[in-house]
This record gives sequence, structure tokens and C-alpha cells, in this order.
Amino acid sequence: MSDRQKTHAAAAALDYIEDGMTIGLGSGSTAEIFVRLLAERVQDGLSIKGVPTSEQTADLARELGVPLVDVDHVDHIAVTVDGADEVDGRFQLIKGGGGRHLREKIIAQASDLMVVIVDEGKLVDTLGKFPLPVEVDTFGFSIAAKQIFDGLRSAGVKQPDVHLRRKGDGLAPFITDGGNYILDCACEAIPDARAVDQALKAIPGVVEHGLFINLARVVIVGEDNQARVMEL
Ligand code: 5RP
Repeated sequence: MSDRQKTHAAAAALDYIEDGMTIGLGSGSTAEIFVRLLAERVQDGLSIKGVPTSEQTADLARELGVPLVDVDHVDHIAVTVDGADEVDGRFQLIKGGGGRHLREKIIAQASDLMVVIVDEGKLVDTLGKFPLPVEVDTFGFSIAAKQIFDGLRSAGVKQPDVHLRRKGDGLAPFITDGGNYILDCACEAIPDARAVDQALKAIPGVVEHGLFINLARVVIVGEDNQARVMEL
């Protein structure tokens, strides 16, 4: 997708950052652009602390000189800025394309404000074209996979297809920062995100899924020449 659009969105998110804030730093290519722009502000004297949502983001922030704070030593996160794989008209999201959605959700939920930065291609009428990532414990993951299939069916998904995510080599399973597996669930359409949320939460072994409901309050859509800011 367009880096130009992502850069417009990331730059507009800087308007939500103020001196002294603790900021959740999302993961993925759009969030990475935000961290790079934020680092420039830090070099110019902005005083913030970042709480990274992945090891990758932590490494990048350290390399660029963005001060970090340990998640367990934070008492207040003002804003989290993060990307998404899909965003619908109610600001419901699918996240986890990069497999970081567990930490992303923990930080987003603990923040006063979640600002989502996306290119235009991420906007959808109905969630579900992007396969829904579900992080599961490695123990008994194939049992969880069957129960996830049934749960998705019961929540109105017609033909779910549940696959273990593998690394680039296609052989070894992808392992999350938390040491778990990801089951990618191709749904085509998710008619009722809340029903899916409830169904997945009821399955032992499911650590977290990539549906973000009621978390994003601001969505910034990068266009070719500007950013469009939408607030709930
Ligand atoms: C990682 C995520 C990312 O925010 C999402 O995959 C979007 O990534 P990108 O900005 O590279 O398109 O949820 O878990």
C-alpha cells in the first residue's frame, strides 16, 4: 500500500501528541513511520515516553532515541497511535496482520485515546476480508482451531477457514512476542463483530483475537495529498 498515504496519516497523528505525555507506540509499517516522525520531534526537544507494543517497535524506538518506559512502570498512557488491517464505519478494527495484536490491545485499552492511522485501502464496509488473527496457546492449538471454527459459525460467519500462521519459510509456525501461535481465520465477512468477540473469548487456549471494538476514537486516513481525520 501507499507509503505516501501512510506518511500523511502518521504526520497528522502528531497533532494529538503533547509534551510530557506517555504514548503507546503501535506496530507495523504505518506505526513505524509514526515512530520515525515522533523521533524527529524528540530530537527537536519534545519530551515524551513511549510504551512499545512489540519487540520490533521497541528496537526501532531505541535506535532512533525515543525514550521508552517499561509497561509495568506506567500508571497512565495518554494516547496510543497504531495502524490497522481493516477499519469499518463504526471504527471497529481488524488488527494483528503483524501478529502483535495482544500487546497492541493491552496498550490501547489502557490508553485515554486510541488514534488509528491507515491508508485508504484499509477502509471497509464490513470487516472480514482480511483474515482475522487469533493468538492461541501452543498447547492443544488444533483443539482450539476446531472450537474457533465452530465459534465463528455460531457467530454468523458462513465459511470460516482456520489456518496456522507460518513463518516466511512456510515451514515453522510463526511465534508471537508472547510465545504463542496465530490462527488466521479467513471469514470473507464478519456480520456481527461483537458475537465473534464473545464466541472467541469463551474458548480455552484463545489468548486474544484481532477484533478491536470500542477502542478507536480517532481514525486518520492518509490520502495521496492530505490526511482525513475522523473522530467518533
Ligand atoms: C500488527 C498490526 C498492524 O497495525 C497492522 O497489521 C497494520 O500494519 P501496516 O501498517 O503495516 O499495514 O495490527 O499486529
